[in-house]
Amino acid sequence: MDEPTAVGAADPVLRVSGLRKTYGPVLAVDDVSFTLAKGRSLGVVGESGSGKTTTARIIVGLEQGDAGQVTVAGRDRTRSRRHGRAERLRRARDAQMVFQDPFLSLDPRIPAAAALRETLRLHFPRRDATARIAELLDQVGLGERAAAALPRELSGGQRQRLAIARALAVEPAVLVLDEAVAALDVSVQAQILNLLADIREQTGVGYLFITHDLGVVRWVTDDVIVMWRGAIVERGPTARVLAAPEHPYTRLLLDSAPRPGWDPGAVAAHRRALARAATPSPSPSDHRKN
Ligand SMILES: Nc1ncnc2c1ncn2[C@@H]1O[C@H](COP(=O)(O)OP(=O)(O)O)[C@@H](O)[C@H]1O
Ligand SMILES: [Mg+2]
Repeated sequence: MDEPTAVGAADPVLRVSGLRKTYGPVLAVDDVSFTLAKGRSLGVVGESGSGKTTTARIIVGLEQGDAGQVTVAGRDRTRSRRHGRAERLRRARDAQMVFQDPFLSLDPRIPAAAALRETLRLHFPRRDATARIAELLDQVGLGERAAAALPRELSGGQRQRLAIARALAVEPAVLVLDEAVAALDVSVQAQILNLLADIREQTGVGYLFITHDLGVVRWVTDDVIVMWRGAIVERGPTARVLAAPEHPYTRLLLDSAPRPGWDPGAVAAHRRALARAATPSPSPSDHRKN
C-alpha cells in the first residue's frame, strides 16, 4: 500500500513519503506516501476528518509533520529548517494552495489586480508586472471590472478565480486545491473545473486535488488516492478506482453519493460494519458485559 502509484513515478514533481501527524490522541495522518508526476492531477478523496487537509497543510508548509518527507521538484522541504525570506519565497514557488474559502487568502482591502501586482512584486521584483497581470486575469477569465474590484465585490466564482490567479502568479510546480470548488454553485463549479483543466494544459502545473466529491474527482484527476482515518486505503487511475473499487471504504464512499435507487439505510449499516471491523476487538471482559 505504500508503493507510489506507477503513473507518476517517472518524473515526480511532488513526492510524499511516510507522512505522519498526530494531534494529541488523534492520528490525523498515518504513514501517507504518494507521488505526483509533472503536469498530472492527483485526487485525494475521503470523508470529513480523513486527514486530507492536514496532509495538504504539511505539503505546503503550513503545518509540520511528526515524521515523513516532502520533496517538491527534487528539493526536500522537510529537511531544511532554514526559514529565511529567500527560503520562504522559494517554498512558495514550489507549492501553492487554494482553499475552499478564498477570503482566507485574499486581503479584503486590496482590489484584484493590485493583489496580483503585490504577489508579483514579492516574487519577481525585477520583472514588469503589468503585462503579466493582464495575462493572469485573462487566464482565469476575469475582466476589467473584476480587476478593479475588492474581494467582497466579486462573486464566489470570481473570488476563486482570483485566488487561482494569485497562486499561479508565483509559477508553482504544484497547486494544492483543498475543496476549492466545494462552496460554489454547481454551474460555477463546472466553469472553474473547466478553467483548471485548461490551465493545467497551458502551464504544465501539477494538481493535488482534494475533495470529498467523487463527481469532481472524475472530472479533473488522472489518478486518485482514497484516505480513511488518516491512511491511504486505495490508489490507482481514477477511472479504475471509480468503476471497480477494491477497498470496502471506497465502495462505501461511492455508495454514499445520492442517486436514483439509493438506499441510505444500507449505506449506514455498511459504514457501521466497516467501523466495527477497523476497531480492535474488545477484551473478553467487555464481551461478557454485552
Ligand atoms: N489543528 C488541529 N487540532 C486538533 N485536531 C485536528 C487539527 N486539525 C485536524 N485535526 C483532526 O485531524 C483529523 C483529520 O482532519 P483533517 O485533516 O482536517 O481531515 P479532512 O480534511 O479530511 O476533513 C480530524 O480528526 C481532525 O479533527
Ligand atoms: Mg479538509
